[in-house]
Amino acid sequence: MSDVVRLIENNRRWAAHRTRVDPDFFPRLSRQQAPQYLWIGCADSRVPANEIVGLDPGELFVHRNVANLVLHTDLNCLSVLQYAVEVLRVRHVIVCGHYGCGGVLAAMQDRSLGLIDNWLRHLRDLHHEHEAALAATAPEARPDRLCELNVMRQVENLCHTTIVQDAWHRGGALSVHGWIYGLHDGLLRDLGVSRSSAAEVRRSHRVRS
Ligand code: CO
Repeated sequence: MSDVVRLIENNRRWAAHRTRVDPDFFPRLSRQQAPQYLWIGCADSRVPANEIVGLDPGELFVHRNVANLVLHTDLNCLSVLQYAVEVLRVRHVIVCGHYGCGGVLAAMQDRSLGLIDNWLRHLRDLHHEHEAALAATAPEARPDRLCELNVMRQVENLCHTTIVQDAWHRGGALSVHGWIYGLHDGLLRDLGVSRSSAAEVRRSHRVRS
């Protein structure tokens, strides 16, 4: 129990510190949030979204799940995306994966972890799709390469949603980015797959021509 009490105590200290530095901090945030960014990241405890990009409460809208997947039938993720884009009007959506992702590694192995196998099935499909390319990669580099390929796929998935495409058709300034984080050095890498218009999306996946 004391482990949990410690968290409440930490919170008291944190809130007091924030108020000391900026007395209007909490009253201001309680009135509204106006984040510019939506972060879609892995649930991994070593990738704390706000902290690694140096943003305060109120500056980053966050959705996290195991292996940072954006699936067309995941109403949770889609609802976060829709609210962020259409109501909060964020300017950037960032999918951020990380090297050494347990979800990606699990999808490359032949062992069952239970219910989560179904979620990770998407990664297993991705692994299978890229089997030939991965076979040409050094064995020790394959997991990290699949982590990168996963981020790229989730950027594509985002661009294929009606939510992102509708925003582009309305003429909204919205960019989607794919980044990956190194657990070993704390650094983000841009995978160079940013998209800012429907013209950059495969024709077959455009909602309107
Ligand atoms: Co992960």
